[in-house]
Amino acid sequence: MLTLSSQNLLIKSSRSVLREVLNHALREEEGAFPSSPARRLCASLIFRRTCTERCRTSSPAHYITTPIFYVNASPHIGHVYSAVIADCLHRYKILQGFNSKFATGTDEHGLKIQQAAAVAVKDPLTFCTEVSNRFSHVFRRCDISYTDFVRTTEDRHRQAVEKFWTVLVDNGFIYRGSYEGWYSMPDESFLTETQVVDSTDPLGRPIKISTESGHKVEWMKEENYLFRLSDFRTKLQHWLKSNPQVIQPEKFYHIVLQWLESDLPDLSVSRQKSRLQWGIPVPGDCEQTVYVWLDALVNYLTVVGYPEQYSHWWSVVHHVVGKDILKFHAIYWPAFLLAAQLPLPQAIHVHSHWTVQGKKMSKSLGNVVDPLETSLKFTVDGLRYFLLRQGVPDTDCDYDDDKVVKLCNSELADVLGGLLNRCTAPSLNPEQIYPPFCNTSFPKGSEELTGRAMLEDYKMVKAVSRLPTLVKENFENLHVYKALEAISGCVRMTNGFIQRHAPWKLNCRNIEDKLWHDTILHVSMECLRIFGILLQPAVPGLADKILSRLGVGPGERSWDHALDFLSRYEGRGCPYERRALGPNTGVLFNRLERKKVQGITQKPGK
Ligand code: ME8
Ligand code: MG
Repeated sequence: MLTLSSQNLLIKSSRSVLREVLNHALREEEGAFPSSPARRLCASLIFRRTCTERCRTSSPAHYITTPIFYVNASPHIGHVYSAVIADCLHRYKILQGFNSKFATGTDEHGLKIQQAAAVAVKDPLTFCTEVSNRFSHVFRRCDISYTDFVRTTEDRHRQAVEKFWTVLVDNGFIYRGSYEGWYSMPDESFLTETQVVDSTDPLGRPIKISTESGHKVEWMKEENYLFRLSDFRTKLQHWLKSNPQVIQPEKFYHIVLQWLESDLPDLSVSRQKSRLQWGIPVPGDCEQTVYVWLDALVNYLTVVGYPEQYSHWWSVVHHVVGKDILKFHAIYWPAFLLAAQLPLPQAIHVHSHWTVQGKKMSKSLGNVVDPLETSLKFTVDGLRYFLLRQGVPDTDCDYDDDKVVKLCNSELADVLGGLLNRCTAPSLNPEQIYPPFCNTSFPKGSEELTGRAMLEDYKMVKAVSRLPTLVKENFENLHVYKALEAISGCVRMTNGFIQRHAPWKLNCRNIEDKLWHDTILHVSMECLRIFGILLQPAVPGLADKILSRLGVGPGERSWDHALDFLSRYEGRGCPYERRALGPNTGVLFNRLERKKVQGITQKPGK
């Protein structure tokens, strides 16, 4: 119970006095109720407030986004891939001490959605809500720690789009005109004559398709609003040339520069309401609906509070996108932003596609892999590890269950799991502690090999001490596969180290053998601690399991803690030495069996 004096203070509770009030309550409670619920609540409020304040005042900001996904069909692992990449960068930035915002969401307007809702015989908003919920559910299930989930049907988004449109009009970049040309509904994209080719539909009738996506296009002729895209060609070229790192990987940067070699026709940015009702009406002209891509791109601003307070986050925005939507993000979006006099993105990280038997996984082809089913078969961390370890941004990757089984079994179950098991199994570690390190057994930089450590052991220590820098570089560039490859190489080296010295063969009654035995375990556990910290962005569940088993507390898992490796070897003290291990929660990663995996088709929660 809070006393009267604390209640009085609470009534006045402005932000500045909140902490004082809580501290006061704590002091009052201390004697009588040392661990009452009120006390725990107060302590947790103080902790949260202190963290938030620290973030607000001293941490640099970072903002990462995924595309917002169309709700015309359920999520597949291609969508999860974009989200996992962004999640990995977000978690990495937090470990680095950043105040990171991570937005994802759903793109709910446009002809495609209007038609999908009609086919499902549902009113569009009910239809959108159902599918949008599927996306947020899948993302939560896959440990995607987004801080914002935006839907383009939200009011805050409509307001942002209306304001953005008005600014473009006021700045003179939107005019009334008539548009005539090809339109691809599946891509919601306008195409020039050179971007379409002849083809045939499944019944053999002649059609035109987009050279880029292969989707059918239709001829469109309408009165609507156009955006002066042609004004921005040289400005965009200048932006790209003065920021050669802005589109990653480099391959895609060159593709965009190539596109900018040709003229940019003005872009139709609205559709007649008679054709498209499901969208945001053009401000001041209810006969027209805002083009779905202009609507969708503004989501990135909606999330940060545009048009109110947004500049704090907007100056540090990074987009993750699939290569299919590069043109929209690297040409249209920067042009819109220039027209609205807003800063351009810090980086556009592009990734390639997941294919199945060589064909792009897509809703329209019906060859999609269900993320819920897959996460059930391989576990969430198994799926995340596979996507991040095998997915290469430059080139398409083929998805195959067998590949997941092989990769997870060898790298997660056998090598990483084996290492943790060896260090912590009661047979080798009967005291269940982080054992002490002995400098005589493993002397620092001993070229003459005066201790018991061998040349390869010194190489391993060097490799692991360099690992955080290497992993950092690759996380920053979103070459997550390279980061995981480097970690996996070091895990193998550490396993080789244990294997080479076979501590299970040492006689621990002999004092020297005992010291060496403990040193082998100490060094291996220090390596594992580093792997655990560095793996947190990619496989948070497994990383937590490793660190908890090693007895590494939540406050000891930041990036800086990975820089303090093997401090005893360096001649400093080690806070973990002789500490009791955390509880044994079983095998790190259970080996997957191909046959069993084939049998699982049931969806979680059903
Ligand atoms: O384009 N492999 O939404 P969308 C890898 N609403 N990633 C894939 C993939 C695959 N096979 N298939 C899809 C849209 N993706 C717009 C975006 S943003 C302002 C509006 C991922 O549902 C990839 O990120 O078609 C791709 O760019 C995105 O999903 C397209 O999702
Ligand atoms: Mg698409």
